[in-house]
Amino acid sequence: MATLAKSLAHEIKNPLSVIRMNMELLHEDFEAIATPEARQALAKIETVNRQCERLQTMLNDFLNFTRLTNLELVPGSLNDQMQQVLTFFEPLANQQNVTIRTYFDPDLPSINLEPQTLHAALLNLVKNALEAMPDGGELVARTRITRVGVALDLIDTGCGMSSNALLRMFEEFYTNKDGGTGLGLPTAKKIIEAHSGVINVQSEVNRGTQFTIEFPTPKRI
Ligand SMILES: Nc1ncnc2c1ncn2[C@@H]1O[C@H](COP(=O)(O)OP(=O)(O)OP(=O)(O)O)[C@@H](O)[C@H]1O
Ligand SMILES: [Mg+2]
Repeated sequence: MATLAKSLAHEIKNPLSVIRMNMELLHEDFEAIATPEARQALAKIETVNRQCERLQTMLNDFLNFTRLTNLELVPGSLNDQMQQVLTFFEPLANQQNVTIRTYFDPDLPSINLEPQTLHAALLNLVKNALEAMPDGGELVARTRITRVGVALDLIDTGCGMSSNALLRMFEEFYTNKDGGTGLGLPTAKKIIEAHSGVINVQSEVNRGTQFTIEFPTPKRI
């Protein structure tokens, strides 16, 4: 079933991008005409475009989700990885009045990671945290040395999770957001586990959420 779903997702991607491209061309054609009929057509084209975009995001999320075997792990810094993701989200955080604080242990040992893939996991966690704080708040990212390796705590002062959300958050397609796919956390978990890591969460409604991910440090020979 998984293989079938994966090839189906691939098959849908190409016609979908042809549809999108042509809708964009159609959009340009109608933009050049200044009649009420053309304006109505434009509105419909935009609806189709938005839905195509949603489908494309869903397909990409799904394909990322299935593409997690045979990682090529190389030594890397969890601090650097996290900093890159935070830098990426900085403009959005500013816009949303979210203050980002980092407490990175400068002596954090390196871990084995695949940069692109781990980036996607951290991205999903930070994206969720920001989505939980639409009216501002604080996001703390802290790294520390643990008994087995290194850990990252990501603490937000957002909406928190209900007991139902806490139970179901790692389920594929579980979401309580309009337009959410519900693949962010299952993908993150799968990626973290593919790095021999674990992910834990503590959350309280209206107070916030803390995600902790922990990775073993490679044994010295
Ligand atoms: N930091 C957080 N604060 C509050 N709720 C969260 C947080 N992170 C995850 N959740 C809850 O877990 C659910 C699942 O998260 P997940 O990232 O898998 O999907 P999503 O964010 O809803 O959609 P997608 O990530 O696909 O856009 C969310 O809908 C939300 O209810
Ligand atoms: Mg998400």
